[in-house]
Amino acid sequence: MPSISTSLSWLSILGLLFSPQSCLALSKKNRLACQKATHDPLKGCPKHTLLVYAGSANATAKKNVFPSIQSAVLSLPHDNSTQYILILPGQYTEQVNVTRPGPLYLLGQTSDAASLAKNTVEVVWHNATGTTTTGSYDNAWTSALTIAPTFNSSTTGSGPTGNPVPEDTPFGNFDFRAYNLNFTNDYLPYAAGPSLALSTSYANTGFYHCSFKSYQDTIYVGKLANSYMSKCEIAGQTDFLYGFGTLWIEDSDLLMRSCGGGIIAWKGTNTTYENKFGVYIHQSNVVAANSSIAPAMVGKCALGRPWNAQHRSIFANTYLDASIRPSGYIDWSTTAPRVSNYTFMAEYKTYGPGWNKTGRIEGNVTHILTERQWQPYSSPAKVFQFFKSGKAGNTAWVDWSA
Ligand SMILES: *[C@@H]1O[C@H](CO)[C@@H](O)[C@H](O)[C@H]1NC(C)=O
Ligand SMILES: *[C@@H]1O[C@H](CO)[C@@H](O)[C@H](O)[C@H]1NC(C)=O
Ligand SMILES: *[C@@H]1O[C@H](CO)[C@@H](O)[C@H](O)[C@H]1NC(C)=O
Ligand SMILES: *[C@@H]1O[C@H](CO)[C@@H](O)[C@H](O)[C@H]1NC(C)=O
Ligand SMILES: *[C@@H]1O[C@H](CO)[C@@H](O)[C@H](O)[C@H]1NC(C)=O
Ligand SMILES: *[C@@H]1O[C@H](CO)[C@@H](O)[C@H](O)[C@H]1NC(C)=O
Ligand SMILES: *[C@@H]1O[C@H](CO)[C@@H](O)[C@H](O)[C@H]1NC(C)=O
Ligand SMILES: *[C@@H]1O[C@H](CO)[C@@H](O)[C@H](O)[C@H]1NC(C)=O
Ligand SMILES: *[C@@H]1O[C@H](CO)[C@@H](O)[C@H](O)[C@H]1NC(C)=O
Ligand SMILES: *[C@@H]1O[C@H](CO)[C@@H](O)[C@H](O)[C@H]1NC(C)=O
Ligand SMILES: *[C@@H]1O[C@H](CO)[C@@H](O)[C@H](O)[C@H]1NC(C)=O
Repeated sequence: MPSISTSLSWLSILGLLFSPQSCLALSKKNRLACQKATHDPLKGCPKHTLLVYAGSANATAKKNVFPSIQSAVLSLPHDNSTQYILILPGQYTEQVNVTRPGPLYLLGQTSDAASLAKNTVEVVWHNATGTTTTGSYDNAWTSALTIAPTFNSSTTGSGPTGNPVPEDTPFGNFDFRAYNLNFTNDYLPYAAGPSLALSTSYANTGFYHCSFKSYQDTIYVGKLANSYMSKCEIAGQTDFLYGFGTLWIEDSDLLMRSCGGGIIAWKGTNTTYENKFGVYIHQSNVVAANSSIAPAMVGKCALGRPWNAQHRSIFANTYLDASIRPSGYIDWSTTAPRVSNYTFMAEYKTYGPGWNKTGRIEGNVTHILTERQWQPYSSPAKVFQFFKSGKAGNTAWVDWSA
């Protein structure tokens, strides 16, 4: 057996001990203890956990107690320290913006952290853009939750490569986690311009037992963003997953509230390094939002369309209900198809009434992957890359046990 000094330098050991990525994770047991309602809500939470309580504006001012999530976030130091915020039941009408780099846990109080239906906290915002009635400003203004180092890095912009983000923009949060929280943008109960529930750019973000609801452009995973969602629910109508970054959705439900555009509208960029930017939907369900609207949607909803020709997305081992069109994916539009040999709109072992092999082949836009073609993308470690170096394996921020 080689001695430690030959296999690892002491410096790298010190690096491991003190790097923020090691030993920071809150164990599942401790997280559940913190999320559980107790007489003293912070009982069981890590030291210095902040408490958010909608009624607290009128309470005797207490250190570490905040009336809004954003006021708690703003009280945190802009550094690499690990921070925790426990949010008590309620509807919080606010925009939450996170710019700090250090690990941040947002925990919703709940009697059953394993059940999305039991979530008690909803963050709501009410805004949309891009239509004659709403006016035209960047989509970034509309989001309920934003995790990005600067405002400009969070903007969508226009054109094939979007808003140019200044070269010297640092990475934002490298380990953001949300548990048992609902994020809703309820501008109008139908697609009326981009209306974001989540916007994340230049950041690593994980969501567990969370819901995201709006009608259009619900989730924006922007430039150099890595986002992992497990046991979540995403409800939308038009292009409700869009962006430039990398999104992995595991064991979740995608609810179609009607059919518009596609489920996914992605812009690939090859302006950085060789990359796997795109959307990966694994072992999930793609279904009509409820049984009253399902009959009118049969055969009408598209899996996605290319916002630019380098769109990359894969639905893998996923159930599709009868709402899905025979062709699966579609062109952007008849006048601007935006499909080229760089376009990678794919499925691997999808199943259910929405899977129609004849329809996919006739449609000629959906790639049906073989096992070998799926392999380069088949796990989060293969697709989440490190900032700037582009190295794969950027998953230290993912909670596999939630
Ligand atoms: C806080 O106090 C004000 C004035 O007393 C009252 O109008 C308001 O409803 C209270 N808010 C809460 C959340 O209790
Ligand atoms: C904060 O953490 C990041 C990511 O690990 C690292 O690159 C950076 O140097 C750290 N900053 C400080 C001030 O320690
Ligand atoms: C959170 O979302 C889930 C799934 O849609 C829902 O069942 C639950 O009632 C929601 N809770 C709140 C407080 O909005
Ligand atoms: C949305 O937010 C922007 C920026 O704060 C504001 O100018 C606009 O009036 C809001 N739009 C709606 C429809 O509320
Ligand atoms: C959050 O950012 C949005 C723009 O993205 C801005 O309109 C809003 O005022 C910010 N909110 C807070 C609480 O900082
Ligand atoms: C943000 O982007 C806008 C539009 O591209 C630009 O005018 C502005 O100078 C940028 N602001 C910063 C702080 O980089
Ligand atoms: C079904 O979903 C649609 C679209 O979100 C909504 O308008 C309608 O109220 C829902 N119906 C029921 C019975 O939940
Ligand atoms: C980048 O994409 C463009 C088309 O959008 C293509 O012409 C170019 O060859 C691509 N470059 C690389 C390195 O893939
Ligand atoms: C894409 O097509 C162009 C010609 O249209 C060709 O030059 C290029 O090699 C093709 N690239 C790939 C990745 O097939
Ligand atoms: C499958 O697709 C083909 C070709 O578009 C179509 O004729 C057929 O009706 C579809 N089957 C179902 C069950 O939708
Ligand atoms: C399928 O699309 C490609 C371009 O993406 C085209 O070259 C080919 O002719 C099409 N095949 C059929 C049968 O339409």
